[in-house]
Amino acid sequence: MSATDGAPSTGTPLIAARGVTRILPGIVPTTLVHDVDLAIGENELVAITGPSGSGKSSLLYLLGLLDLPTAGEVLIRGRATAGMSEEERAHTRLATLGFVFQFHFLLPEFTVLDNVTLPMRALDALSPKAMRERGLDLLGSLGLGDHTAKRPDQLSGGQRQRVAVARALANDPPLVLADEPTGSLDSQASEQVFEILRDLVRTGGKTVVAVTHDLDIARRMDRRIALMDGAVVGDERVVVAPRRNMIIPGRTEGANPESSPG
Ligand SMILES: Nc1ncnc2c1ncn2[C@@H]1O[C@H](COP(=O)(O)OP(=O)(O)OP(=O)(O)O)[C@@H](O)[C@H]1O
Ligand SMILES: [Mg+2]
Repeated sequence: MSATDGAPSTGTPLIAARGVTRILPGIVPTTLVHDVDLAIGENELVAITGPSGSGKSSLLYLLGLLDLPTAGEVLIRGRATAGMSEEERAHTRLATLGFVFQFHFLLPEFTVLDNVTLPMRALDALSPKAMRERGLDLLGSLGLGDHTAKRPDQLSGGQRQRVAVARALANDPPLVLADEPTGSLDSQASEQVFEILRDLVRTGGKTVVAVTHDLDIARRMDRRIALMDGAVVGDERVVVAPRRNMIIPGRTEGANPESSPG
């Protein structure tokens, strides 16, 4: 794989792992991930799959700068992160990355709206009024407009997970990392959350990287990265639009990349 895979437009991936290894020290050291090379570009919908214990969550935490590799490097838009101070890393995380976990991790004593504005307050880039408005907009767009003043325990699991998505989007990050975002939901709520994540890519221009056990959901994503024993053992993409279709005179308007052969 070349260093620019996944980012044909700019040549710099949104996020890249170079030889990323994470070993937990101990009497018997545990290797969580081993020598992972990946490049993920703008506007990608990526599934991370693999058996339980294969290192999916570990990799996501490393990509999300929540954990540090023992060897190798995570780069965000070409920028190395290993040498960052804790403060710089926290700022990069807040501005660039949104997280959605299997269990929503909303703060129970805060309202839905306050949970969503929390990352905005941490980044401190907007006025309190603008934070509130943005929070209400985000919640409204996820069908939660009537629930903003409630506390998380007054919501269903699917609603809570949508609040978690709103929180992940609080600072409008280009990249959303999700660890089994539908893992604790019934099939209907699962589908709704999947469609929201997909639309973040299709119409919101975001990149979403989601760990999933759900093979049906993984199949519907644009790219599937498979892990086994902490190593990447597969990286397959849905074939995208052949570019030549875009330059056939008179065909440009009507060209439907999805239905093109090849
Ligand atoms: N804190 C820890 N101490 C010891 N071993 C750990 C620790 N965290 C993870 N591991 C081990 O590292 C490996 C990778 O764990 P990880 O949680 O990344 O797997 P996973 O693919 O996310 O699994 P699952 O699908 O069950 O969530 C596993 O073998 C796990 O037991
Ligand atoms: Mg996991």
